[in-house]
Amino acid sequence: MAKPKVFVARKMAQEALDMIADATEMELWEDELPPPRDVLLKKVQDIDGLLSLLTDKVDAELMDAAPKLKVVSNMAVGFDNIDVPEATKHGIVVGNTPGVLTETTADFAWALIMATGRRVAEGDRWTRSGKWKTWGPMILQGHDIHHATLGIVGCGRIGLEIAKRARGFDMKVLYHDTIRRKPEEEKELGLEFIPKLHDLLSKADFVTVHVPLMAETRHLISTAEFAAMKPTAVFVNSSRGPVVDQKALYQALKSGQIFAAGLDVTEVEPIPMDDPLLTLDNIILAPHIASASVATRTKMATMAAANLIAGLKGEMPPNCVNPEVLQK
Ligand code: DGY
Repeated sequence: MAKPKVFVARKMAQEALDMIADATEMELWEDELPPPRDVLLKKVQDIDGLLSLLTDKVDAELMDAAPKLKVVSNMAVGFDNIDVPEATKHGIVVGNTPGVLTETTADFAWALIMATGRRVAEGDRWTRSGKWKTWGPMILQGHDIHHATLGIVGCGRIGLEIAKRARGFDMKVLYHDTIRRKPEEEKELGLEFIPKLHDLLSKADFVTVHVPLMAETRHLISTAEFAAMKPTAVFVNSSRGPVVDQKALYQALKSGQIFAAGLDVTEVEPIPMDDPLLTLDNIILAPHIASASVATRTKMATMAAANLIAGLKGEMPPNCVNPEVLQK
């Protein structure tokens, strides 16, 4: 029997590619950059499965162009690049990669919290540019992390891992979450639930955001939210870029309304080279790498491969975001 045809939108861990190549007739997009839209629309015309990344927009137009498509497996926990209701209408199952990147992403959010609060990237630029003339009492002062107040906006799996790590710094940890309160974790990790976002923002020394991108969270953090923060506040986002209004962030950083920011994600990725944020010293801009450890990216790839292969067999992918397609 002919093997199902799949298109894999980027190179990834060989282990995962081997799994897919064994089970399917695989076409792999070898470029470092994603397939351009017109190419992707052609590639999907006769495929049964697509292994996509968050850079590939999987919308109604693409699904209409792919009459045989049964499964879209996204190598990411987030799936805001996919129109899931539309996939469900088309009878296409969608897989994602939750869980395996939780701790790695939390580690990186902490890297941003610490590097931003203590001006690590700025210090490195200072040294390399020859500005370091002597030890100076006033040079590059940042803000203490230990015993400070951490505010977690969106306290799901990643938010809770952030909270765990904060214990080592003797921090007070506040959280705001619109989905559910977590009484057990409040006890276990000493968390304090803050019902109103602005109350959390005004109390926290460090604010870290971990919400999914949805209509309700687009520009969740904008002018009024930055105005609510302390002038010494450090703001970190490693969720999705559009959760933050970048123009408002620029104003807040430029005017000294907040102390500094660390972003792993931006509204447009990659950030355009003429974006005014790039002119500021009090921001660290990372290229969406929070989950980029060797071990985690390998696990994400093999998990995406397993979702793809199961979906092609008509089985429930181990991690499926629209199981109703197969439950009908
Ligand atoms: C995800 O998985 O959603 C991340 O943003 C990429 O690791």
